[in-house]
Amino acid sequence: MRVLSVIVLVVCLMCVDLALAKKKRDRYHKHREVEQKEAKEALDALQYDKEQQFDLRGDDWDEESNSEEEEEREEEREEEREEEREEEREEEEREEEIKGYVNEIDNPCMEFECPMGMMCVVDGFWKPYCTCVEECAEEEVEDYFICDTNNVTYQSDCEFYRLKCQNADMADVELDYYGSCRSFPECDSYELEEFPLRMRDWFVKIMKQLAEWPAEEGGLTESEKELERLAEDDEKPYIKPIHWKFRSMDIDPVDQYLTQRELAELRAPLQRLEHCTKPFLEICDDDGDGLVSIIEWGNCLLLEPDEIEY
Ligand SMILES: *[C@@H]1O[C@H](CO)[C@@H](O)[C@H](O)[C@H]1NC(C)=O
Repeated sequence: MRVLSVIVLVVCLMCVDLALAKKKRDRYHKHREVEQKEAKEALDALQYDKEQQFDLRGDDWDEESNSEEEEEREEEREEEREEEREEEREEEEREEEIKGYVNEIDNPCMEFECPMGMMCVVDGFWKPYCTCVEECAEEEVEDYFICDTNNVTYQSDCEFYRLKCQNADMADVELDYYGSCRSFPECDSYELEEFPLRMRDWFVKIMKQLAEWPAEEGGLTESEKELERLAEDDEKPYIKPIHWKFRSMDIDPVDQYLTQRELAELRAPLQRLEHCTKPFLEICDDDGDGLVSIIEWGNCLLLEPDEIEY
């Protein structure tokens, strides 16, 4: 049962990361609104996987399934297929929409990126700049609410970043996890001990998966692909992926430290599925300065001191 749930978890984590990679890929051309849709898809994928997890458990417990259940499942599958087709159609429509934008070559906001909570507008001299988003679409599904690091719930990540943009005193508050604020079961010592091992296995798998994707579609860059090939021959194949994951998050700024905002990329989609995510990341911050250095990262993922590169 444990093995099964670990396998399911790995698959699940992969799908979260792949969905996030896809999100990144699309960021090249897309409008803020479209980007939010992507985040939703990531969450849908996550939700979908969670349902599958329950399915698997069900099968495991109750081996004889009667035809009624079989029928129900068939119906569900049919519904899923219908949803997939629907999504494909939406994807096509969206691509058309993007082509429309691309044709507006003289819009200076086209190639101008703004951080979350901000949008691009042009001034009187036709120069683009970022300003706080004025209004966010309301989320109806609770899965897309967010909980911030002060344990305050917002109706959407857009709303959170919008308020953060407007209020200087929210500078230190970050997105904590998706879903409304709640209390999580305690992460027991056994789970916590096991967590870094599972997490680094996941990094290995995810890196392998992303190595098969073209870089311009959110896959690894050529040098990262080379790194992945080398990692496969390593006696300890997780060392390079642990470093790769750190570097892929350490982007804002690139300084060998992960800030709470950089860590949110890992924490936010996972916490609800994996209640040990937060406790684990808190332990990683060994000196309690709110940042996770490459050394702290290596330590908490159980690397030997001489295996940590910086
Ligand atoms: C955060 O808020 C939720 C819901 O109000 C509550 O159940 C939980 O205990 C709070 N957590 C903390 C750490 O205060």
